[in-house]
Amino acid sequence: MMELSAATQARFAKEVAKYPAEQKASAVMACLAIVQQEQGHVGTGAEDAIAAYLGMPAIAVHEVTTFYNMYNQQPVGRFKLNVCTNLPCQLRDGDKALAHVCSKLGVEPYGTSADGVFTVQPSECLGACADAPVMLVNDRQMLSFMSHERLDELLAMLRANAVASGDRPRNSAGEGQT
Ligand code: FES
Repeated sequence: MMELSAATQARFAKEVAKYPAEQKASAVMACLAIVQQEQGHVGTGAEDAIAAYLGMPAIAVHEVTTFYNMYNQQPVGRFKLNVCTNLPCQLRDGDKALAHVCSKLGVEPYGTSADGVFTVQPSECLGACADAPVMLVNDRQMLSFMSHERLDELLAMLRANAVASGDRPRNSAGEGQT
């Protein structure tokens, strides 16, 4: 089990204080978000530590981590690209958009590019089916009507951004960007 630092526990305590004592498990999503913010992902050791802190079964924490796309169960690249492949998007080339991104980056779905800049994942409905193909960058920025041309532009722009901000390739630096 991961050991929670005093600073992390203090952040957890602030979240737990928002709920009645008998409902502290309600802070699970906030605690997961804190760990991810600090470490870039939430591994099983962190899930166990959160479960122990909140007095809930580890499997219940794991169910939350695996239900939501925003929690990374392993280290991800500088940019996490979630391409919607749910049925409405699939009918409007969402699956082709995912395949195009994977092919451009030389990865399988859920894979991270060799330079550590991109992680590509299929996602469930992002709530913008009429705008397919739709994707989400780093769980925050929604992009619509992602034709192959627009995807190419996006990848080039994000890669340039990564270079400009001094991100070092994961495979040569021996460390990952999150
Ligand atoms: S199915 Fe893709 S946004 Fe709804």
